[in-house]
Amino acid sequence: MPHPQKHVFVCSQNRPANHPRGACGQKGASDVLQAFWQQLQQHNAYGKVAVAYSGCLEPCDQGANVLIYPEGILYGNVSKEDVDEIFERHLLGGEPAERLRVSAEAW
Ligand code: FES
Repeated sequence: MPHPQKHVFVCSQNRPANHPRGACGQKGASDVLQAFWQQLQQHNAYGKVAVAYSGCLEPCDQGANVLIYPEGILYGNVSKEDVDEIFERHLLGGEPAERLRVSAEAW
């Protein structure tokens, strides 16, 4: 079985509603994860791209967060509507979706 070239981690952390850090789980992370899996299927990218949920990636105020390796690029404030852009531009095309990147100061 080939090793995936790209790994996508979608922060799916949940916390109580009044927690001061907030959580990606309350910012649509489940919808984002589903959208990535749909893109994976639509592009038949199995074996090239792996998608998984993760726990907290740290910059919770930027969530919903998506981290992609091997580049180590973090996307923030990601909604399900942004996923096709990340998938097609970055995962298939090799170019980061710059408008969604978390700033170097924040992460
Ligand atoms: S809860 Fe998602 S980065 Fe912390």
